[in-house]
Amino acid sequence: MCGIVSYIGKKDPVPILIKGLRRLEYRGYDSAGLALLDGKSLNSVKKAGKVSELSDELSVSPIKGNCGIAHTRWATHGVPNDINAHPHLDKSGKIALVHNGIIENYDSIKKTLEKRGVVFSSDTDSEVLVQLISEIYHNDEGQLDFKDAVKAALQEVVGAYGIVAMCSDEPDSLFAARMGSPLVLGVGDNEFLFASDASPIIEYTRNVIYLDDGEFVEVKNSAYSISNIHTEEIVSKTITKIDLTIEEIEKGEFPHFMLKEIHDQKHSISDTLRGRLNLEDGTSMLGGINDYLPNILEASRIYITACGTSWHAGLIGKHLIEEYARVPVHVEYASEFRYRNAIIDANTILIAISQSGETADTLAAIKKSKELGALTLGICNVVGSSISRETDAGIFTHAGPEIGVASTKAFTAQVTVLIMLALKIGRKKGVSLHRGKELISSLKEIDTNVSKTLETIKLVRQVAKATCNADNYLYLGRGVNFPVALEGALKLKEISYIHAEGYPAAEMKHGPIALIDKDMPVVFLAPQDETFLKILSNIEEVKARGGIIITVTDEENDSLNSLSDYVLVTPKSHRYIFPITSSIILQLLAYELAQFRGCEIDQPRNLAKSVTVE
Ligand code: F6R
Repeated sequence: MCGIVSYIGKKDPVPILIKGLRRLEYRGYDSAGLALLDGKSLNSVKKAGKVSELSDELSVSPIKGNCGIAHTRWATHGVPNDINAHPHLDKSGKIALVHNGIIENYDSIKKTLEKRGVVFSSDTDSEVLVQLISEIYHNDEGQLDFKDAVKAALQEVVGAYGIVAMCSDEPDSLFAARMGSPLVLGVGDNEFLFASDASPIIEYTRNVIYLDDGEFVEVKNSAYSISNIHTEEIVSKTITKIDLTIEEIEKGEFPHFMLKEIHDQKHSISDTLRGRLNLEDGTSMLGGINDYLPNILEASRIYITACGTSWHAGLIGKHLIEEYARVPVHVEYASEFRYRNAIIDANTILIAISQSGETADTLAAIKKSKELGALTLGICNVVGSSISRETDAGIFTHAGPEIGVASTKAFTAQVTVLIMLALKIGRKKGVSLHRGKELISSLKEIDTNVSKTLETIKLVRQVAKATCNADNYLYLGRGVNFPVALEGALKLKEISYIHAEGYPAAEMKHGPIALIDKDMPVVFLAPQDETFLKILSNIEEVKARGGIIITVTDEENDSLNSLSDYVLVTPKSHRYIFPITSSIILQLLAYELAQFRGCEIDQPRNLAKSVTVE
């Protein structure tokens, strides 16, 4: 939530910052702005709306400088307008700051500063921080330099922040700090960048330092030093080489990142599987958790915690782990779990699932579980992310960068990891070689099955065209496919703004059936498994009430065909592969519906991808 980028070096900062903001726009697109230091003068431009608005403004009224900071905002405190856009300047106009996170005690600090005569121009919590820095800097009678003033101000704030600040008294310097919101330092050849993730950096350098909470960086005269925010202690950090490619973070021939990422699933699932399948032994090889396998095998309970789409993957994980590993699994929203008195002890395993690896609630749930003695495992997509570093061990999904705000390929990669994890534990606990081999063989066919699934696009488009004016959509599934129904409904809500609900198919009779009329499309997840005949009865019930029936199945069948208005078929495979292939159909459906409704697919209203506020 909110993206920060800043540059100091020999190049013109403006194109670097604008390009960086475009890469970070998935984190928020309510407003954008930048500030540049030109020798001793500080200039800034801020605009409500997307980065393109800022870029247009800069082409009409350009500003220049030798270093700069920039920000793309997801509004928390204060409406999205020009004034609330970052960077925020202090009252002297000498200091500028960009901030990602929330200053929780902003109100009390603001009141104190107002009593001292500070006049605020915005409604944001972030301006409080820059005005506080300014108060400390200007009122210390020359005792503190700018760096110490920033550090002193940070001692007073409570909350989460990734910040970069600059001051016209320090023309060749940038100052940054992290507490709870991600920040990466790019170390180039006489040039340095800060960014909320590595994507704005890779064109200039592959050398990055992932900052940890409590770290402060000063870049001055072509050198950087990292210290503790609270003390003078110098922190030594290792430089990591990133192997992200430009192609991975651009949408290429596709009109939207979401469509590209749906198609990426032709290889992203097998990228996640690569080197991890052992057909001969009917098991998986998960190096990241090997050292902890004895603890996992002895665990009395597993909690899976996550938010949104990742939580849906967790619900599928529960089915898989309980089926194969026979250990109780509880799936919890991280935002609820962290505040409740769950039974967590040394026999508990916490599995945290997160695409970004930065979701604030998930991170907090991990920290709490660790404190209570649980072993924490992460299933993350972003290497170097906070969650991947905070957990004791983990398994990366190798889905590649996911930029479309609606999660697609990360979800199927998460399910893939959960299948491998369940099987790994299960085989150690007595699942037969035959069952193991059966599942591994199906995983090996996944690329072909995903490609065939994507061929449904034409029919999906017809369904979307026929139903794009619906006000509501219902998704129904049973067992392991109930979470798929939830995920299908979430995708639709997010990008097409059609109200949608996911329900266990049999629960429909206990309430939602009242909603059904001739205008209500109902998506049934109906694979040919042991619940098929029950699902068929549920379809009959909807048919009898005139609903529009869209069935997703893995095998055509006369009854299904005659009852359904549309039948979308994925290739027949293992029962635990259907949640993957059927969710791809639901991703396509959400995409096509959003297209027909003229929605902004990659940047849906009010959303941001990486939720770093609580
Ligand atoms: C939905 C979506 C969100 C995320 C959620 C958790 O399409 O993307 O619901 O799944 O914000 O994010 P991560 O997985 O990054 O922790």
